[in-house]
Amino acid sequence: MEPGIQDRHFFSNLLPKGIVRRELEHSKKIHHGDDFALLADIGRDCAGALSITDTPEPPIAEQAWYQEIGEQAIRDVIASKGYYLPFTGETPVRLSLAGAQHKWAVYRDQIGTLHWPHGSGVSSHIIKFPHSAVNNLPLNEAFCTRFLGDLELPVITTTAYNDYVLSSRYDRKTLADGTIARVHQEDFLQASGYSSHEKYGISGGIQLSEIAKILRSHSYRPVHDINVLLQRQLANIITGNTDAHGKNLSILYTASGPTLSPLYDLTSTLLFGKLLDQRYAFPISPDETRKVPNTQDIAFIARSLGVRPALVMEQSEKLTQLAINRMTDSVISFYEQHQFVKKRGMVSNLANAILRWVKAIRKSLHLESIRIPRIDDSHTREDRGCK
Ligand SMILES: Nc1ncnc2c1ncn2[C@@H]1O[C@H](COP(=O)(O)OP(=O)(O)O)[C@@H](O)[C@H]1O
Ligand SMILES: [Mg+2]
Repeated sequence: MEPGIQDRHFFSNLLPKGIVRRELEHSKKIHHGDDFALLADIGRDCAGALSITDTPEPPIAEQAWYQEIGEQAIRDVIASKGYYLPFTGETPVRLSLAGAQHKWAVYRDQIGTLHWPHGSGVSSHIIKFPHSAVNNLPLNEAFCTRFLGDLELPVITTTAYNDYVLSSRYDRKTLADGTIARVHQEDFLQASGYSSHEKYGISGGIQLSEIAKILRSHSYRPVHDINVLLQRQLANIITGNTDAHGKNLSILYTASGPTLSPLYDLTSTLLFGKLLDQRYAFPISPDETRKVPNTQDIAFIARSLGVRPALVMEQSEKLTQLAINRMTDSVISFYEQHQFVKKRGMVSNLANAILRWVKAIRKSLHLESIRIPRIDDSHTREDRGCK
């Protein structure tokens, strides 16, 4: 490998990809592929504890100040799809988050108003905007995240709005004086020196076994983290998430030591995002086209993670059962907490699709058949929580 290439990959992995990157390069008049020029411009509030500028002074020396964003401004950028128009002038920007979806790093104050952090100000939340090719992805993500939280997986905190999803940043912590501090994190491509193009195990990039190996050797609680990694891989199957790749898992450097970060970017791409690659990011079977695992595939998943097949089977039974038992309450509480969200039918369709999918998984694994509930309008009525 060319010397220094892994360092380059590390920095490149902080940046967005695809159309998001192209639009940013265009609006900032930066040559395509010039990672460092882009980071110098938009890198003040990267993932983890990194703040990158092109000045010799540390950004910390600057004054922190915040500028209110306003709901209307958010609605306007969504309507015009001009996500970077507010940033073409002098304003320092907070856009250096990885991924293929348009997103902003923002600061949410105690009463819930969103602001742009400027100077040495630090963001506390991330807004993810609609996807150009997949309908209702923010709502899909908000629901999948809450649902997996209801199945007791350690997930980020998200709130859905009509066209975007707001998540609190797990790589930030509030200090006693109310200021926000950065906590370092790195995704598994950064942790292992891969380039951002090598995020899919299925296409020869980073493998689940490599992630498990890093956790075994570096996490301060490897047994816990491997178990969460197993649960995440099973959750990907249960919710039909084919996009859970090496950048959608990170290591967080907590005060106790490195550990797997809370789970994020949780969506159902198989059941709803038909335009995306329909193969799981990390294969679940030697037959890479299989979507529903059979009992032989349990051993394959176990091998990838270096755990006993009996543990994978036990967790599959537990999670699929919880998914069926908790779906109705999960949908009801989602709507109670999101009374302002329209498109209510989308979530009930997603919930029913996941339930049918889970039933098929249980059948394929020869697990006892459980009657699945039917989610309908009575679970998602707008006035439900007001009665
Ligand atoms: N809630 C969060 N807290 C901290 N960092 C986050 C959070 N959500 C996403 N990130 C960071 O932003 C990157 C991109 O986010 P992700 O949700 O994966 O977006 P995309 O859907 O575009 O892939 C992640 O790799 C991670 O570094
Ligand atoms: Mg992602």
